[in-house]
Amino acid sequence: MGPAGGAVSGRGQVSVEQCPDGPLLVRGADTVRDAAGEEHVVRRPVVAVCVCGCSARAPWCDGTHKVRRVRRAEAQLEADG
Ligand code: FES
Repeated sequence: MGPAGGAVSGRGQVSVEQCPDGPLLVRGADTVRDAAGEEHVVRRPVVAVCVCGCSARAPWCDGTHKVRRVRRAEAQLEADG
């Protein structure tokens, strides 16, 4: 992860996967640090970290990015006529 956040693990390797138009899937982390420097304990093997900034459960993804994607597609359809 970049300088705005990070993930650490005492158990082994941490992996991060970007979902298309969605969150980062973080596997194997013990904690995730948000952009403000606050550390969030990870209690599951895989967590979804919000990258769109719209989640009500930040830093975790709550699925709001899907609504944004639909609205963008609707706006594009209107623009295309
Ligand atoms: S990436 Fe899913 S709510 Fe932000």
